[in-house]
Amino acid sequence: MPIFSYPSSPLIPTLTLLLSLPILFFLGPNILPPRRLTITAPDELDDLSLFQKAIALSKSQSAPKSHLPSTKSRLGSTSTFRPKIAFMFLTNSDLHFQPLWEVFFNKTQPNLYNIYIHADPSIRIKPPTGVFADKIIPSKRTQRSSPTLISAARRLLATAMLDDPLNAYFALISQHCIPLHSFNYLYGFLFDIHKLRKNLDYLSYIEILSESEFLWDRYNARGENVMTPEVHFDQFRVGSQFFTLTRRHALKVIEDRRLWRKFKLPCINVESCYPEEHYFPTLLSMEDPNGCTKYTLTRVNWTDSVNGHPHTYYPPEVSPQLIHTLRESNSSYSYMFARKFSPDCLNPLMEMADSVIFKD
Ligand SMILES: *[C@@H]1O[C@H](CO)[C@@H](O)[C@H](O)[C@H]1NC(C)=O
Ligand SMILES: *[C@@H]1O[C@H](CO)[C@@H](O)[C@H](O)[C@H]1NC(C)=O
Ligand SMILES: *[C@@H]1O[C@H](CO)[C@@H](O)[C@H](O)[C@H]1NC(C)=O
Repeated sequence: MPIFSYPSSPLIPTLTLLLSLPILFFLGPNILPPRRLTITAPDELDDLSLFQKAIALSKSQSAPKSHLPSTKSRLGSTSTFRPKIAFMFLTNSDLHFQPLWEVFFNKTQPNLYNIYIHADPSIRIKPPTGVFADKIIPSKRTQRSSPTLISAARRLLATAMLDDPLNAYFALISQHCIPLHSFNYLYGFLFDIHKLRKNLDYLSYIEILSESEFLWDRYNARGENVMTPEVHFDQFRVGSQFFTLTRRHALKVIEDRRLWRKFKLPCINVESCYPEEHYFPTLLSMEDPNGCTKYTLTRVNWTDSVNGHPHTYYPPEVSPQLIHTLRESNSSYSYMFARKFSPDCLNPLMEMADSVIFKD
């Protein structure tokens, strides 16, 4: 005796199928894993033309050995210009800490920095105001576990390079990041430290690790043996997505086509797919390991991380002590930024902006 009685009429399976279609239609988006964004040919061409403009401009600038911008203006006057920091905000939501960053920027001269925002256009965000007004650059959709976060960061780098030849450092910041020091402290750290060590090239602050749990899975996330010959496993690196790069390295990143060919491939194993945590450290460790400190300036707390997300700080945790603790690093210098903070931390942070965060 068969356990299941075979349906007597072919109508029943057909009906079942027909009835289940609308159910799948409504539930599908919730039960099926979300489709990962891929890099389309038109997007790729858009980016390439932007990168080429930025590369051409860089090559035309007379900056022979140093990556520092020329100190002569284009009109040939001899007045000197001070190098600037490009703050590149990468977001897919409102910039929760805009008021705090505004205090950070308000406490310095406007000619020492520039702001650029890459905002996912599929999400409607509150138009940024104040020093952030009109700073959104032409942006495209971004999604975790896809190469789109790499593209967004490269778009920010190229846009900032094109926009102002005085941009000398490029800091990538998320909407959950806060500053841990004043602007002038950061500026002095990045630029003045080198006056003491003449002839030394500026260094990039990017985390570069060669050992990490799951590195092999992440290497093979796009398929086995896919990364060779461009990147062998022993060349594959991991590090925080949030970096502060020199102009020289920003140029290397937007010039790269060889590694990007591999890193832009969609992941087969979505669980191990964090291309933005590998592309930049791998590329720079292959191209110029000694030009990088291998440390990031952005503190993040990975204790009890969930789902690839680090610990998020909530208002009860925010205190002057927390700011002091977050600054401490194992390197010879202090952390300058920290993430991730929930949006409602804004008020407690604003209350201690002058007395703690920017008092240094
Ligand atoms: C920053 O400065 C601008 C212009 O002076 C001012 O309108 C704005 O209120 C200031 N923002 C903060 C948060 O202090
Ligand atoms: C890091 O997060 C854990 C909880 O996940 C918390 O107990 C710890 O205090 C945090 N560390 C710092 C330095 O904030
Ligand atoms: C410093 O290094 C120790 C030992 O590796 C580690 O436990 C600690 O979390 C590190 N601290 C910071 C601030 O990175």
